[in-house]
Amino acid sequence: MTRFTFSLVRRSSSLLALALLAGTQGQTATPTAVPTLPPPSALITAQPIGDSIFPALGQAGLDVLNYDLDLFVDRPGRSELRGTVVLTVTATQPLPVLSLDFLGPQVLDVRWEGLPAPYRHDQTAGKLTIQPPQPLRPGTLARVTVRFAGKAGVRPDPDLPIDVGWQAVPAQGDRVGANFTLSEPDGTRTFLPVNDHPSDPATFTTRVTVPAGYTAAASGVERAEVAAPDGGRTFTFEQAQPIPTYTLAIHVNQFERVDAAAVPVGVAGSDVLRRDYFPVGTQADTRAAYTSTGEILKVLAEWFGPYPFSAYGSAIVTPRVPALETATLSTMPVTSSNTRVLVHETAHQWFGDQLTLADWSEVWLNEGFATYAELLWAQAQGEAGEDIVRGWYARAGRSQTRPLVATSEAQLFDTTAYIRGALALHAVRVTVDDAAFKGYLRGWVAGFHNRPVTTADLLAYTRTRLGATAGAALRLWAESPELPPFPQR
Ligand code: TRP
Ligand code: ZN
Repeated sequence: MTRFTFSLVRRSSSLLALALLAGTQGQTATPTAVPTLPPPSALITAQPIGDSIFPALGQAGLDVLNYDLDLFVDRPGRSELRGTVVLTVTATQPLPVLSLDFLGPQVLDVRWEGLPAPYRHDQTAGKLTIQPPQPLRPGTLARVTVRFAGKAGVRPDPDLPIDVGWQAVPAQGDRVGANFTLSEPDGTRTFLPVNDHPSDPATFTTRVTVPAGYTAAASGVERAEVAAPDGGRTFTFEQAQPIPTYTLAIHVNQFERVDAAAVPVGVAGSDVLRRDYFPVGTQADTRAAYTSTGEILKVLAEWFGPYPFSAYGSAIVTPRVPALETATLSTMPVTSSNTRVLVHETAHQWFGDQLTLADWSEVWLNEGFATYAELLWAQAQGEAGEDIVRGWYARAGRSQTRPLVATSEAQLFDTTAYIRGALALHAVRVTVDDAAFKGYLRGWVAGFHNRPVTTADLLAYTRTRLGATAGAALRLWAESPELPPFPQR
């Protein structure tokens, strides 16, 4: 019976029409001859989160608590993958359907609390719509299992010449094939069904099975490794603190894992485990930058408060791509293996990975703080810092400027987000002494990591914490259409 229902639902073009209508309120669709379908009203109520830049992402009212992922990378370097993910979900409003972001592999099977559930996977729209036996209600938990296999989906980056999401690096010369994730802003949906929005961070358990000779690395703390058939191995990682989906790192390569001394800058003085992953054959000059990681953690924890996770390090990748602040394991291209970039990605562990965005238009709250960390690091190394700030101001003056909250995709990672964002923080800093500024940064992290943040939150916090002068300075830097005057004490 279930099986029958299942195939009917999957073939139903009416359900396709309904899925396409998802999010369009007030329209009615009329499914015919699909007796097992729930009433149309129940199917058309899946509303996306309503991101101002990416209006189709996510599902409003859905709260994913945990993704428990079993991934099999049978042939590293290719885009095929297979796996099973169990999502532990709850809701903040009754949800008659679940609508996950998923561009990726074919869906083989969906289960709701272990029982087969009707679903429709629209790979073009990138939505996997699942029909629960009854609506998911606030205060209740459900476990939803999705089994998938095939080629990862493709998501061109909104403004860089790359595809985000599951990366396939083919074997070349004496370099073996490799894979890794590079998902900002919405690439995780190329290989995993997710609520792909930073306002719904979740914990992750990630098990990755790879062939003989390969190593997997992922966000979180590594658990015991287990033998798999044919000499393969299964690596397990526990990411116990919630992180946004785009910050999930998964790497498959022939790695050398290098452990370093733990750094006691975690929550309540706990140890932060230190490990880096270098592709076999990585040159010494590439590795050199990473010897500073422990010191970077100490300097940044002094300014921002305890490092939020239980482990930190980098996984080095060979393609020329931008570095990314993947949680507990920054993704660092060989070509960006320098201290400045490492400081930047490390700072994102607080700003972006722990403190998450309410909306992609607020991304300067990630990039401005991470860029500002570059100055804090330079000053901790004994540099005056003045040159850096002057350099930023000159750079901002040479580019188009705009208020800090972005209004288009093209603006997300522009000079304003990074440089004007950093200058805005400097404009706050010059209104107070460094002890007050440190308390301000620490207070922002400590007070706001439990819910997604906005510029309005930071403005209000700045006024209450530091007073009217600081508040007005930030407001000018956040909102003025022109570049404000150089920030000086
Ligand atoms: N957040 C990254 C940084 O500044 C930059 C970035 C934006 C990125 N989009 C990306 C990196 C896509 C890799 C892929 O550190
Ligand atoms: Zn950044």
